[in-house]
Amino acid sequence: MKCNLAVISGDGIGPEIVAQAKRVLDAIGEVYGHMFCYTEVLMGGCSIDVHGVPLTEEAILTAQAADAVLMGSIGGNTATSPWYQLPPEKRPEAGLLKIRKSLGLFANLRPAYLYEELKHACPLKEELANQGFDMMIMRELTGGLYFGERKTYTENGVTLAYDTLTYSENEIRRIAKRGFEIARKRRKKVTSVDKANVLDSSRLWRKVVEEVAKDYQDVELEHMLVDNCAMQLVKDPSQFDVILTENMFGDILSDEASMITGSIGMLPSASLNETKFGLYEPSGGSAPDIAGKNIANPIATILSAAMMLRYTFDLDKEADAVERAVKLVLKKGYRTGDIMSEGKIQVGTKEMGDKIVEEIKNQK
Ligand code: IPM
Ligand code: MG
Repeated sequence: MKCNLAVISGDGIGPEIVAQAKRVLDAIGEVYGHMFCYTEVLMGGCSIDVHGVPLTEEAILTAQAADAVLMGSIGGNTATSPWYQLPPEKRPEAGLLKIRKSLGLFANLRPAYLYEELKHACPLKEELANQGFDMMIMRELTGGLYFGERKTYTENGVTLAYDTLTYSENEIRRIAKRGFEIARKRRKKVTSVDKANVLDSSRLWRKVVEEVAKDYQDVELEHMLVDNCAMQLVKDPSQFDVILTENMFGDILSDEASMITGSIGMLPSASLNETKFGLYEPSGGSAPDIAGKNIANPIATILSAAMMLRYTFDLDKEADAVERAVKLVLKKGYRTGDIMSEGKIQVGTKEMGDKIVEEIKNQK
């Protein structure tokens, strides 16, 4: 198969971790007979430096023309980088929101899984870590507070600001369907998270999710309030299979879920539209403090590439091969600094890429 990818290396550690994911894809291509072609696209701070804006229309067109987008990370140090002197709509993050909206990437999948080998890194009590967990956070990505009308203004000498949270039943229905479909391929349980005891948008969310659930009788549905969910994630994470939630709640809960896996450097994500097209990126940020030092963990980006093989290209066997290679490398004791522990072998970004590529080639 020939796969045309738009690649957004981005800022901070982005270029280093994306380079390793590309090497892994090339190894898959070599072993399984596929070809991956890459077109670089600027987004975030690096685009501001060249074009004065975080994402150009041309960049959007290039991404749209590709089969999928592989992304690293964008943004810099918010306290020191000149990018954050710009108005909000010109900052690096605005590029990310714009590409999500322009490409219609409404379904954000963020798996949080505790690797057997990394149990010691889980900050929860030992008995909880020993139980393990394996959940998929399904975050609605193109609606809600992130895209509602907002304003900062002055009235009678007092400054006020508002943001609005709106969802249409159609937006809720399409993400709910995706949530149930994914649950069907997993342990068949959906926890829909809202704040229906306070918010109208949440009451609509709950009503529509219940309607959709009627078409998925084989999947168990429960509703949970977002504050309770935040608590349950650290009290008993093994109870969750698919967590289905709106944009802002998903942003917060997915960071919490990633933390209990031990390192955000391990977590991939996929943002999908109505078709097979998707943007794949690690859940973590651009970590400007460690950029260029060859110490960042490339595994989240490599696993994002595996999600791309699975969801955009239906290459399940190849995706399994990448995931298996990552597990084997961990089993053999190789660790980047963020997941290092006593008795293990510390490696850099590139060396971690080498080891994973090696395992892919060995498996065949
Ligand atoms: C994420 C990030 C983004 C978000 C930021 C960078 C705008 O936190 O992907 O979770 O809030 O969606
Ligand atoms: Mg976030």
